[in-house]
Amino acid sequence: MKTHRIALIPGDGIGTPVIDAAWQVLEKTAKTYGFAVDGTTFPWSCDFYRKTGSMMPADGIETLRGFDAILLGAVGWPAEVPDSVSLHGLLLPIRKAFVQYANIRPHRLLPGVEGPLKAENFDILCIRENTEGEYSGAGGRVHQGTADEVAVETSIFTRTGVERILRYGFEQARARRGKLASVTKSNAQKYSMVFWDEITAKLSAEYPDVQVASYHIDAMAARMVMAPESLDVVVASNLFGDILTDLGAAIQGGLGFAASANINPDRSAPSMFEPVHGSAPDIAHLGIANPIATIWSAAMMLDHLGEAEGAKAIMAALEATTARGIGTLPGRNKTDEITHAVLSALDA
Ligand code: NAD
Ligand code: IPM
Ligand code: MN
Repeated sequence: MKTHRIALIPGDGIGTPVIDAAWQVLEKTAKTYGFAVDGTTFPWSCDFYRKTGSMMPADGIETLRGFDAILLGAVGWPAEVPDSVSLHGLLLPIRKAFVQYANIRPHRLLPGVEGPLKAENFDILCIRENTEGEYSGAGGRVHQGTADEVAVETSIFTRTGVERILRYGFEQARARRGKLASVTKSNAQKYSMVFWDEITAKLSAEYPDVQVASYHIDAMAARMVMAPESLDVVVASNLFGDILTDLGAAIQGGLGFAASANINPDRSAPSMFEPVHGSAPDIAHLGIANPIATIWSAAMMLDHLGEAEGAKAIMAALEATTARGIGTLPGRNKTDEITHAVLSALDA
């Protein structure tokens, strides 16, 4: 029997209950579909930082490298550790070190979920560049705390980085409905974004079967609200993809439904799966975190690990659950109730 070794990083706040929920679903799915999941939990978090002075041990990345995949809850507890410390100490280094350059985020309504829009039949796959661009971390501050202070943060776009994420987008579009929307802001940002547009145009010659269109980020934000059905695969830079995918989460009913996969397409290192949402300090102790986004992310993980049947079964169980009105409205059901409903739907 095939065993998948999974590193579990619950992190902070609602990260713990949503990872617990997803793990129960994974274990049950594994039993039914004839494979095994072997989970190792790492307590790396803001709590860990308070105790040790770092978000993960110095050899944390090397430890994770030995796993088949990583399932992460959420990182951040801003009341006690600045976000710029916690995220740059755990989540962002993993994405970069393991070259998880494609951040994949599906946006569609599960049955029974009422989104804020009139549109109901959209099915968008956002692909966010995940290792460079605006989040490269290149910059600095001088004359700190004085009137002459300067802060510089430079976006870095490399030909390798832009070409590989666009190619990934073209491939996904080819496997779906054949439409790719590339998002930039090349009317205002005349170097990096013009570069991105040029590479899009160059690659489009290799994918004559894919209908490609370029949009500016502001227009894309409006389109996702006004005409989401017109979109299939959307590819964007790190910052633009970050913002568009919270918008995507909103139109699919909220952050409790938005799943994501940080993929290393070359499989030279583990990929990481996590909900789009954060640690939700405002509801962290109420037992009402929606685990659906994380369970959906776990299904994406199984797909990546070659367990397509198991992944399909989890999606069907999620759909059966929301179709019954369970987990569809914020606070309507407790985390445990939603999890139990998904587990029993897996039996059906
Ligand atoms: P957030 O996603 O944690 O919360 C935004 C709002 O959505 C809150 O009102 C929250 O209650 C609600 N929400 C989020 N997930 C939910 C769920 N599963 N069920 C029900 N409601 C849910 O964003 P934030 O408040 O901006 O950030 C809180 C912390 O999380 C910060 O430290 C931030 O940096 C961090 N963060 C981490 C990640 C990550 O680890 N991937 C992502 C986003 C934010
Ligand atoms: C996300 C999050 C992270 C990001 C933050 C917490 C650094 O917002 O996964 O979308 O921007 O990548
Ligand atoms: Mn985000």
